[in-house]
Amino acid sequence: MPSTVILDNPLDMHLHLRDGEMLQHIAEESAHTFSGAVVMPNLVPPVSSKEDVIAYRTRIMEAIGNETFEPYMTLFFKPGYDKAFLESVRDRIHAIKLYPAGITTNSEGGVSGFNVEELRPALEAMSALNIPLCIHGETNGFVMDREAEFVSIYETLAEAFPSLKIIMEHITTKESVAALDRFENLYATITLHHLIITLDDVAGGMLQPHLFCKPIAKRPEDKEALLEVALDAHPKVMFGSDSAPHPRHAKEACGCAAGVFTAPIALQVLTELFEKHGRLENLQNFISGNARKIYGIIPPAKKVILEKKPFKVPGDYNGVVPMFAGEEIAYSVKGVTHG
Ligand code: NCD
Ligand code: ZN
Repeated sequence: MPSTVILDNPLDMHLHLRDGEMLQHIAEESAHTFSGAVVMPNLVPPVSSKEDVIAYRTRIMEAIGNETFEPYMTLFFKPGYDKAFLESVRDRIHAIKLYPAGITTNSEGGVSGFNVEELRPALEAMSALNIPLCIHGETNGFVMDREAEFVSIYETLAEAFPSLKIIMEHITTKESVAALDRFENLYATITLHHLIITLDDVAGGMLQPHLFCKPIAKRPEDKEALLEVALDAHPKVMFGSDSAPHPRHAKEACGCAAGVFTAPIALQVLTELFEKHGRLENLQNFISGNARKIYGIIPPAKKVILEKKPFKVPGDYNGVVPMFAGEEIAYSVKGVTHG
């Protein structure tokens, strides 16, 4: 009998579900095995009004059909959001996502410059309403240094808004890991791919477009720092896949889109990784428990049974190439139960 691992209510705290045909094609890959996910707002145009949030949630619910899955909705941060607007939308969202302008896919309408006084009205209102601020933390500096340079902005914001929950999204550096323990109100999501790859895997040999993402994978010591807090299930870190599907033609192209598609294999590979390091007992908190506490959510009940039986990852899912395409991974999803 292959050994099994059971995960309760897995949560993906940073997910791109897209829209239109892509949403129809990929929603199931998350909705089947996860209880819920924080859904990123970087559509074209971005999700930035109450109507947008309501309509996008409806489209997601249609796309997932009969699956038990909660999309935790987000808004695309604009400095002009005022208290009245935020109050009106509070019960529809779980966070607001801030993108520096132009830093990644569909982020053109984001923030330019980080002037605390300009951000103050919106961030004070968010603090008062207990709305977490998720940040894509990269400057427009040299690509390998962007996240480390952004740490001083995280610190400024954490100090200026001590009751604002700030979530450093998809951290990739030892500097971000170190910042976690310096400020009570800083938290982080960590992806699967940044626990496994470094820049060498992306560009050290033949260029691997399906591993190209923002923030770019960094150095071995960065990966080790991320692994340490993930394997410990440090209470301020949560799993956020940043699974970011793009059609094959947009990845295998001159001008490759940024994003790694991991939704269909995330739980299996995380299980393999935690087992390999002898830390399986911490996977439940990394995949669900910490996020429940940080976001104060009660996800719909779901149990995912994984068994140690090789699974050959398909070459693509409706034209989207996943991480480990065509390769064998050690765990398979045996079943999912509800309630
Ligand atoms: C994301 C996408 O494609 O929307 N891409 C990525 O490389 N991670 C955007 C993001 O989270 O930066
Ligand atoms: Zn993302």
